[in-house]
Amino acid sequence: MRQPFMAGNWKMHLDREAISAFCSALRRDAGGAGAVRLGVFPPFVYLAEVVAALRGTGVVVGAQTCRPESHGAFTGEVAARQVRDVGATHVIVGHSERRQLFGETDRDVRARLDSALACGLDVLLCVGETLPEREAGRTAEVVLRQLQAGTDGLDGETLARRVTLAYEPVWAIGTGRTATPGQAQEVHALLRDDVARRFGGAVAGRLVIQYGGSVKPANVAALMACPDVDGALVGGASLEYESFASLLDYGN
Ligand code: PGA
Repeated sequence: MRQPFMAGNWKMHLDREAISAFCSALRRDAGGAGAVRLGVFPPFVYLAEVVAALRGTGVVVGAQTCRPESHGAFTGEVAARQVRDVGATHVIVGHSERRQLFGETDRDVRARLDSALACGLDVLLCVGETLPEREAGRTAEVVLRQLQAGTDGLDGETLARRVTLAYEPVWAIGTGRTATPGQAQEVHALLRDDVARRFGGAVAGRLVIQYGGSVKPANVAALMACPDVDGALVGGASLEYESFASLLDYGN
């Protein structure tokens, strides 16, 4: 019922040559991905090139963040409208690196989500607790706060169709320390239950929830076997084509 969605977040990695080779390989193989939805999120400067390279393959191309304002004096920033203008279809909002390194609050994340939806971009909304928050038993409180700040008041159909959630425990990102399938499933079920309570079971049943945090070829199968894990948002293991491609077999 929910289409698995495997997405590569390239962060500030790769260069033009590596990206071109990656896209050629993906173009060759994307047809074989079957039921799995694929996505890549390159740095801004390569967006238009990647859109062109993957046109017609069905692979989603998106940006890693955006500014909520439609235009203006924001040196160095890129508006959601401009992301859409170069042909990208998605944007990530609320990634923990944006929250931690660039001080984005729940309100900032919501502003980005709203502007993205308003100009026709679909959204990956990231939520996740830090290690001290988990150790203090605050995981549920933190992820539900981030989820509610990001989704309260949205139209249910928009949420189900145009928003993908990504549960990314901050302690698992880039650390090699993945959440166990049990830990991931527990939080995914919590997120889905909250959406069911606020938007109804039909919306919650359609919502795609990815897990992110040190997903690798060796652990993706166990994570994807969890009933509420519908895909992965992959950083490090999405940078090498062979490793990204091996994740694609695990759509269930
Ligand atoms: P990682 O990053 O796979 O390198 O842990 C995931 C992410 O930040 O989305």
